[in-house]
Amino acid sequence: MARKPKEILRPRADIAALRAYDPEHHRVRVNLSANENPYDLPAELKAAILQVEQVPFNRYPDPGALELRRAIGSNYGLGIDGIAVGNGGDELILALLLAYGGAGRTVVSFEPTFVMYRILSTVTGTACVAIERGPDFGLPGGAADSVKAAAGDIVFICSPNNPTGNTVSNEALVAMLTDFSGLVVVDEAYQEFAGESAVSLLNDFPNLAVLRTFSKAFSLAGLRVGYLLADPEIIANILKAKLPYNVNALSQAAAAALMRRAGALGGVIEEIRGERDRVFEAIDKMPGLTAYPSEANFIFVRVAGDGPALWRDLLSEGILVRNLGQTEGLENCLRVTVGRPDENDVLIETLEKRGRGGDDQNR
Ligand SMILES: Cc1ncc(COP(=O)(O)O)c(C=O)c1O
Repeated sequence: MARKPKEILRPRADIAALRAYDPEHHRVRVNLSANENPYDLPAELKAAILQVEQVPFNRYPDPGALELRRAIGSNYGLGIDGIAVGNGGDELILALLLAYGGAGRTVVSFEPTFVMYRILSTVTGTACVAIERGPDFGLPGGAADSVKAAAGDIVFICSPNNPTGNTVSNEALVAMLTDFSGLVVVDEAYQEFAGESAVSLLNDFPNLAVLRTFSKAFSLAGLRVGYLLADPEIIANILKAKLPYNVNALSQAAAAALMRRAGALGGVIEEIRGERDRVFEAIDKMPGLTAYPSEANFIFVRVAGDGPALWRDLLSEGILVRNLGQTEGLENCLRVTVGRPDENDVLIETLEKRGRGGDDQNR
């Protein structure tokens, strides 16, 4: 009879010490936690882009994702050799770190920011230096010099920044890119809700990569498609590091068809931007809550008091927002995704009711 070994191989120490990414999934009536688009695609649009009969299930998907890359390319006026697609933007962050990170390489990020930069740096054995953002979460003065002083090889700049919602100007990006031999990755997962984009800098800077996703403004979070725009040299190396059939055939076809109809999403994006401003003003007026201006589809909120308690109260009312309490310095902060008008009304009414029930609960 087979005998169980007394001990089995342990993971690397840095993985053992890592706290796993926890999206805190709960079934609720109002989910404002994952920065998704609150609107699914209309049924006709879904039917038009998801042509199940035309996608062979017995064959592997196109490993080059040519049709999807062509659709993205024609949207941006770029050749397919300047585009990589991934199983969500997350996979492209991983592929980039596999190709350019690893032992002896250093990632620099400006904290607080998207947690996957740190997690995937650890997973790929890449050192990670965190530089603190300024008081309103903008890049600190002399950010480009700090990156050089930290001997950074790869810099992640999230714009608009998750979780704080503010952007980094192209002028600041140019300062970072100039005379820098490392890579600057500008994560524009939420750019469609904002203004300026770093895409216009791609021609001038071969050390720039811009990350985008279909998960947010494009309402395709469930299909998992992201893309990276960069110099063909960077793309060629990322394609070596990614898995061969990383984006499934249905997702490739649907994302390509949706990209060709990108104009159809404008109305929803406009509505979300309008709702963002309404939710911001409503929350910011509430005693004990400070809302930070946002160019994304979420709002960062500082609670003068017990933030996790407010999070629990909202959850008990069936409203899920993101509790940032586990992040150092954000112990009493929440991130609220902008939902549909009716969902935002529920959030605002619940917060107002709670404020009236004892103003000092959330001070
Ligand atoms: C800043 C940022 N970048 C990238 C991603 C990855 O998105 P996805 O893997 O769904 O494309 C997210 C998702 O929340 C994000 O917030």
